[in-house]
Amino acid sequence: MPLVIAIDGPAASGKGTLARRIAQTLDLPHLDTGLLYRAVGARCLKDGVLEDEAASLAAARMLDLATLDADSLRDAETGAAASIVAARPAVRAALLDLQRAFAARPGGAVLDGRDIGTVICPDAPVKLFITAAPEIRALRRYKELLGRGADVTLDGVLADIRERDARDSGRASAPLAKAGDAVEIDTSDLGIEEAFAAAMEIVRLKSGGR
Ligand code: CDP
Repeated sequence: MPLVIAIDGPAASGKGTLARRIAQTLDLPHLDTGLLYRAVGARCLKDGVLEDEAASLAAARMLDLATLDADSLRDAETGAAASIVAARPAVRAALLDLQRAFAARPGGAVLDGRDIGTVICPDAPVKLFITAAPEIRALRRYKELLGRGADVTLDGVLADIRERDARDSGRASAPLAKAGDAVEIDTSDLGIEEAFAAAMEIVRLKSGGR
């Protein structure tokens, strides 16, 4: 079986940074699946149709991985819109094949998101669940957004993270959840290097020297 590494966790837990570093280190392709939902959310926001299920489904069906522009999708408003469209089962279903095809690349792949270990790649040999306390995640996201020149407050970012956590964990369709065979890493007290070392240790153990 190819080396598929599934990385899940809540907003700003550090899963994206870890996924990128692991993919780079192992020379594997990486898919940030949050970008798919962000792209659908951004399209709906732009067209003023966020409440329209059919419009979000059409946007999901038209999505093309090759044209995703990550930088334009990282703002807080797009994150909130992503979480709204991501709660719709039809939108999730429309994005399933694309994610599974990515994971089925012959050499393996790293995917990060909310439901990779539970729904997209339940047979992945390596599953990580990355967490951190909400206040710490809010501070990280606040600094990231400030760095992008966004006009945000720490309280506002924390409220947004709590709201998104509740929506992502509480939805009926593929909620954010730790797979039974995933290994959890709490990055609250870990720097990037420490979290990366902990993650690579688990990858080595679980991949059996593949
Ligand atoms: O970077 P951050 O963790 O804030 O968010 P993201 O990973 O870009 O995901 C944005 C939103 O997309 C999440 O709040 C989820 O609602 C949704 N999402 C999902 O439902 N399933 C995934 N596999 C990835 C993201």
